[in-house]
Amino acid sequence: MLKREKYTVDLAPFLCLFIFLCFADAADVLPGAVLYASNPNQAWSSPNNDFSIHFLPISASTFSLCITYGASIPIWAPFAGEVDGKSSFRFLSDGNLRLINGSGAVVWESNTAHLGVSHATLENSGNFVLKNGSVSVWHSFEHVADTLVPSQSFGAGSVLTSGSYSFRLNRNGNVTLKWNDSIVYWTLGLNSSVNDNLINPTLFLQEIGILSLSDASLSRPVTMAYSSDFGEGNNPFRFLKLDNDGNLRIYSASKDSNTATVRWTGVRDQCEVYGYCGNMGICSYNATGSPTCSCPSKNFDLVDPSDSRKGCKRKIEIKDCPGNATLLPMNHTRFFTYPPETSSDVYILGITACRSNCLSGSSCVASTILADVTGQCHIKTSNFVSGYQSPTIPGSSFIKVCSPIEPNPLPPLEGAGDYKGWRLRTWIVVVLAALSGLLGLVIFGGIVWWSCFSSNPEFEGAYAQYILLEYASGTPVQFSYKSLRKATKGFQVKLGSGGFGAKGNVVCIVDKQLGDKFDIEQAMRVIQVSFWCIQEQPALRPMMGKVVQMLEGIMQIEKPPLFKASREDIGGASSICVSNSIRVRSAPCASEPALSSSSTMQPSSPSSIHMSSITRVDPERYVTPTLHVTLT
Ligand SMILES: *[C@@H]1O[C@H](CO)[C@@H](O)[C@H](O)[C@H]1NC(C)=O
Ligand SMILES: *[C@@H]1O[C@H](CO)[C@@H](O)[C@H](O)[C@H]1NC(C)=O
Ligand SMILES: *[C@@H]1O[C@H](CO)[C@@H](O)[C@H](O)[C@H]1NC(C)=O
Ligand SMILES: *[C@@H]1O[C@H](CO)[C@@H](O)[C@H](O)[C@H]1NC(C)=O
Ligand SMILES: *[C@@H]1O[C@H](CO)[C@@H](O)[C@H](O)[C@H]1NC(C)=O
Ligand SMILES: *[C@@H]1O[C@H](CO)[C@@H](O)[C@H](O)[C@H]1NC(C)=O
Ligand SMILES: *[C@@H]1O[C@H](CO)[C@@H](O)[C@H](O)[C@H]1NC(C)=O
Repeated sequence: MLKREKYTVDLAPFLCLFIFLCFADAADVLPGAVLYASNPNQAWSSPNNDFSIHFLPISASTFSLCITYGASIPIWAPFAGEVDGKSSFRFLSDGNLRLINGSGAVVWESNTAHLGVSHATLENSGNFVLKNGSVSVWHSFEHVADTLVPSQSFGAGSVLTSGSYSFRLNRNGNVTLKWNDSIVYWTLGLNSSVNDNLINPTLFLQEIGILSLSDASLSRPVTMAYSSDFGEGNNPFRFLKLDNDGNLRIYSASKDSNTATVRWTGVRDQCEVYGYCGNMGICSYNATGSPTCSCPSKNFDLVDPSDSRKGCKRKIEIKDCPGNATLLPMNHTRFFTYPPETSSDVYILGITACRSNCLSGSSCVASTILADVTGQCHIKTSNFVSGYQSPTIPGSSFIKVCSPIEPNPLPPLEGAGDYKGWRLRTWIVVVLAALSGLLGLVIFGGIVWWSCFSSNPEFEGAYAQYILLEYASGTPVQFSYKSLRKATKGFQVKLGSGGFGAKGNVVCIVDKQLGDKFDIEQAMRVIQVSFWCIQEQPALRPMMGKVVQMLEGIMQIEKPPLFKASREDIGGASSICVSNSIRVRSAPCASEPALSSSSTMQPSSPSSIHMSSITRVDPERYVTPTLHVTLT
């Protein structure tokens, strides 16, 4: 009996499949149809064949039932988890949709029984619709998961979720990313004159790649974000997705290659995503620029050694300390404080008081002191702390551990092997291309240099020409220390008090043609950032997001670390940048009385850096900042 019943049900999909094959236009799915995980080739497709609903293999034995663009780019899954290979997706004769796993448990259902559902259609937009005749009873676009596609609308109250993260549109039109539905780590706000009058704001992604907000009170939609390829390409399929790393991205996808490319990222600095490395995990960037999670010290273990993003736990809990608890100092590290925690845990304290307050306070698990103008001390009493370590972070943090402190081993980059490797090199690699790549430094400077040096008879022609051509091509250029010295006549740059720290010295290196049409603070930022970008150790060079923040002035810029030129590099000469004092010698400046008292000035030297143009960074439009530096 049972067997026979099973056969009758099982026949339906084959019948459906048969119908599809014969009448490609009849994309309707009829009640009784079933998809099996054991047969991943089975699918219900849209008439244009862009979309299909099927079991997508995740691993050898697990699957995710989803609507995909092309063969494998998921845009909607009713159930976020994975199911086993014996699962099935059933369109029951009463009109209900059910996802049933191998043990027979109903993992998800649409609750559409007895609504008169006559058939289902996967539309050309990717929307899966259950219909009573021509009337839509239920559709997948209403049930957003982690992805928003064009022609799908996202109203106030809708939420994209992925793991502990969620994305929402607020009534006032601001959008936010939250961790655990509480910590707001990213918001994108509207012009406040728009905020107050919104009636029922709706977010939607245009096919050309613009994320817009529309509302009855607005004469036309407001642009919130757009993908870097907007309006370009052979009509790629774009979608907005909240990824499981807590970041919001716009992707452009190609059906032919089944690939999706990131075209816009909400949180530019991945390490600023709250909880990315779990509780007490520290996010940093490795040598290849990928965000990496680690524990504060050997006093901690990874919660899950196979997944460093799950966070860390103390080897011994504070309450079980055999001796006294102590504070583990972490330089260039901060523990994030985002709303709503912002006001509750901030104190203006000196570093010593900040430390001792945390050590003596039984509820304090960690503290962060910001070495910026605010000098704020954040006492963390929450049961979850999320950390970020980077040489560009001005500030220190402390986390409570049982003594003694067991520091982490030094990263391999600072270890003996690698250090020896680059130390032995006899060439100084001046990564002008890194500069040009990161800051948008353009060839123009090279052209100016060309014109300058060609009028300089003392310069050695052939070699410089060669370098110049390489420089103009945008590829990394290696200068020998000798030729660099020759070219710059013993070029030295000094950063810090008396150097770039003094605004007068910046004025004198900026091209006079600019007059006063530039922002001195900005010029200083650009120069300081440029020294970060030419750090010999790649790990020390800031990420693009950080560079932008530093240029925008959002982020405090620290003094760049020492340039470590080895003896061999220097070849007996005194220094190129051996100290972290980098000096600009500038003949034109020396003649200016206001600066003549500065000890850094060397009137005898004609060397200077000319900055001929500084372009503002417009955060809305991603205009690359242009800095033209000329060495003469
Ligand atoms: C099916 O789902 C139930 C409930 O979620 C779960 O307890 C069971 O382990 C699942 N079975 C399989 C084979 O995954
Ligand atoms: C389905 O649609 C028909 C025709 O519009 C209507 O008469 C019927 O009540 C609907 N069924 C249900 C269950 O709503
Ligand atoms: C997440 O939020 C809930 C409710 O606000 C809270 O009870 C829970 O402790 C939070 N989770 C973590 C890991 O902090
Ligand atoms: C969010 O909206 C409010 C007005 O309701 C505004 O004051 C605030 O600045 C907005 N947030 C952001 C990040 O723009
Ligand atoms: C806000 O929008 C109004 C009207 O669209 C515009 O006039 C104003 O310049 C905008 N303000 C800002 C700060 O963008
Ligand atoms: C950096 O991290 C990425 C991703 O975890 C990894 O693939 C890469 O090998 C790492 N690079 C180095 C130099 O450790
Ligand atoms: C622990 O702290 C107490 C009080 O601060 C101090 O008297 C004691 O010597 C400390 N013990 C150790 C082992 O450091």
